Amino acid sequence: MSKAKITVVGAGNVGASAAHIAASKGLGDVVLLDIVEGLPEGKALDMAQGKGVYAAAGNLTGTTNWDMAADSDIVIVTSGLPRKPGMSRDDLLAKNAGIVKSVTEQIVRTSPNSFIVVVCNPLDVMTHVAAKISGFDKNRVMGMAGALDSARFACFVAEDLGVNIGDIQGVLMGGHGDSMVPLPRFTSVAGIPLPALMAQDRIDVHVERARKGGIEIVNLMGTSAYYAPAAGAVKMAEAILNDSKSIMSCCAYCDAEYNIGGAFIGVPVMLGENGVEKIIELNLNDSEKSQLDTSVSHVKELVSAVETMI
Ligand code: NAI
Ligand code: 2OP
Repeated sequence: MSKAKITVVGAGNVGASAAHIAASKGLGDVVLLDIVEGLPEGKALDMAQGKGVYAAAGNLTGTTNWDMAADSDIVIVTSGLPRKPGMSRDDLLAKNAGIVKSVTEQIVRTSPNSFIVVVCNPLDVMTHVAAKISGFDKNRVMGMAGALDSARFACFVAEDLGVNIGDIQGVLMGGHGDSMVPLPRFTSVAGIPLPALMAQDRIDVHVERARKGGIEIVNLMGTSAYYAPAAGAVKMAEAILNDSKSIMSCCAYCDAEYNIGGAFIGVPVMLGENGVEKIIELNLNDSEKSQLDTSVSHVKELVSAVETMI
């Protein structure tokens, strides 16, 4: 791909962090877009000045004007309300559905050939909204959650074992919510299966903490996480732009795969220049299958609810 253009919609906590990471990596030209006049312009100017310090290639533009986002290769959608203490991700459904719908209409108008990476919550349902409104091929629309949730699990495991987090390869499936399905059986530390290195009761503690990893941070600081979520979204963009064929968990459209029957849900995928190029089908055991089914049912219920709102 020639010089890439990445638009990040929403210049709030996740969006600004994502723009900053993408710009620092010199991934391409970055456009940071919001509806609040001055916010994206100010943050982009600050980041552009930072580029003078660490000298990465690529332009940075902050704007409220969608025309500036024209012909983006990738659009990362972070424009949505975050949750506050006491709220679940699902409580954001109605408000964020409206925002994601209007943003997707602008993406279709300005960047009809782009890939869309949705970050807004509830993640799997918002990815469905972006896919439905855009009408894009399903491989071009995906959601970021698995990269974050598996990184959270890896973080807890690395801390416990005292090993380099970069050595941990985690897999996680299902919706981005309390019913997500971390898969310790498919998690390895430098190729060594996790159960060979850690007792089951410790694994269970980290699985539970990863499931509740979002609310742990909300309770600490009154709003949701942003550095790790932003890193997850940029990792996906990077895999597509570099055609790296990287395998990671992401929210992708599944039909026959895992017998999901037509829903956006977290699964291990291969990301490359065509977006979601492959869904990796793991041989799940009965317990893992049943956890995945529960998660899929929950996402499908929310999708039915959102259909009346868009
Ligand atoms: P934030 O409130 O800091 O930023 C949201 C930004 O979106 C605001 O600046 C707002 O002005 C902007 N915005 C609202 N409507 C817009 C529109 N129509 N067009 C352009 N911009 C618009 O929120 P934060 O913390 O950045 O979170 C963003 C979303 O990401 C939330 O829905 C949150 O729940 C979700 N999230 C998802 C994660 C995941 O793993 N998938 C992880 C963390 C957050
Ligand atoms: C998180 O998991 C809130 O979805 C967000 O941090």
